[in-house]
Amino acid sequence: MQIPSPSAQHALDAMRAIVGASACVIEPAEVAPYVIDYRKLYQGQALLVVLPASTSEVSRIMTWCHANNVPVVPQGGNTSLMGGAVPDDSGTAVVLNLKRMNQVTEIDSVNDTMTVQAGVTLNAARSAAESASRLFPLRIGSEGSCQIGGNLATNAGGTAVLRYGNMRDLVLGIEAVLPDGRIFSSLKGLRKDNTGYDLKQLFIGSEGTLGIITAAVLKLAPQQRSASVALVAVENPAAAVQLLGEAKRVAGQTLTAFELISRPALELVLDYLGKVASPLPALHDWMVLIELTSGGDEQPLNDTLLGILEPALESGLVLDAAVASSGADAQTFWRIREEISDAQTRHGGSVRCDVSVPLSRIATFIEAASQRVLELEPEVRMVIYGHMGDGNVHFNPLRPKNQSAAQFLAAHGKSIAEVVDDLAAENKGSISAEHGVGVAKRDALLAYKAPVEIELMWQIKQALDPKNLLNPSKVLPLT
Ligand code: FAD
Ligand code: LAC
Ligand code: ZN
Repeated sequence: MQIPSPSAQHALDAMRAIVGASACVIEPAEVAPYVIDYRKLYQGQALLVVLPASTSEVSRIMTWCHANNVPVVPQGGNTSLMGGAVPDDSGTAVVLNLKRMNQVTEIDSVNDTMTVQAGVTLNAARSAAESASRLFPLRIGSEGSCQIGGNLATNAGGTAVLRYGNMRDLVLGIEAVLPDGRIFSSLKGLRKDNTGYDLKQLFIGSEGTLGIITAAVLKLAPQQRSASVALVAVENPAAAVQLLGEAKRVAGQTLTAFELISRPALELVLDYLGKVASPLPALHDWMVLIELTSGGDEQPLNDTLLGILEPALESGLVLDAAVASSGADAQTFWRIREEISDAQTRHGGSVRCDVSVPLSRIATFIEAASQRVLELEPEVRMVIYGHMGDGNVHFNPLRPKNQSAAQFLAAHGKSIAEVVDDLAAENKGSISAEHGVGVAKRDALLAYKAPVEIELMWQIKQALDPKNLLNPSKVLPLT
């Protein structure tokens, strides 16, 4: 259905009446950062950008847009890697960015919860928890920019999922404005509530297609006072999986992160960071960043880490190990891991596959996928890294040094994504573990999800957004 768009002036007048003139962005230079994605792969256009300051303003915006058939693209920190947070190039949509809704409204330290508006950045949420001697444990590289609303809308993961779960596990309640302006609210902070369908779950991972998340009640964990971090070299991914088993057995609950890094990923990030040296003296094909954390003293935690590493070094399971000897060291180890994604973005020419498979299959998957990709392009650099503890790797083949990004992606972008995604599916995996679907993976869903799943997704969309106005053309493939 073609949506009749009212004039931009009509929309602007209506939005100004709701949020005030200063909260409507219309100058092209100011609109520009809201209509291009983080990696600068998806460039759209907007009728205007609106910056509401309250749930009631969001509700009035949605009521007007619904009545006037104006599409709305919800946007948080705009750090999506899937092109999910920017409008298409029709210029008919309003971009609704939540950044002015950035208040932590309550910390309940008896209930161990924190209520926040959706535009609070992840960093700010973590700091607020810290100021109450608690931990909000979601940890992702974009935490300075991404917002809690975006984290919920994408069901974000990151480097501490192994211990704390992903965003879905960290939330007790959500407030969301529906496409027609009605407000859904479940902000009581209850750990038990079996009064029918758990409706908040619908919005988690829906990538802005079902409602605009305006607030949330987040779970707080006890603060961690000690961390022990090591970067270790292993022969191959199968050895890493074996080491993970040992680490779980020895470290139990204190095992917080277990991140795989391939040699090309390390080389790329060291080159990008310039003066930072690898913590390991020699280059190895595969490395793992291990982190243990606890609320107690450092010494027992260090002993536990050595309890994992010493026998593994003796048996040859671990080839070499560097243990961080200070907080600054640990920060450097983490910086090396967390900057890989930006190193790739800057370098250009990566095929990004965010794949998960059962842990029991991850080594076979990496080996088979690497082999098939190298058959397609033998000079490709196998940048593979990520959250191995969760069975999730960012399998991101990088252009050969002598090919431009455009050449490489035109020749191999589609075929590499297909062989990797096919192999993930063959191994009972997912083609999007934590980054979502957006536009980048939308059409691929048709090949990897059962028809009944796609049908149900459309039925839910139809029930909540019958006019298809909220983040249209994202997530749901056309059948
Ligand atoms: P946006 O990018 O603004 O939006 C993402 C999607 O959510 C869009 O579909 C948008 O329409 C929707 N949306 C945003 N806000 C709302 C709202 N309030 N209500 C409804 N819908 C909304 N992701 C991980 O999971 N793990 C990682 O380790 C990780 N590391 C990253 C590292 C870097 C350097 C970068 C750039 C990205 C990384 N990401 C990671 C991806 C990204 O940061 C996450 O998906 C994040 O949760 C997006 O939050 P955001 O506020 O930027 O959302
Ligand atoms: C990471 C992002 C890319 O793990 O998910 O670095
Ligand atoms: Zn990740």
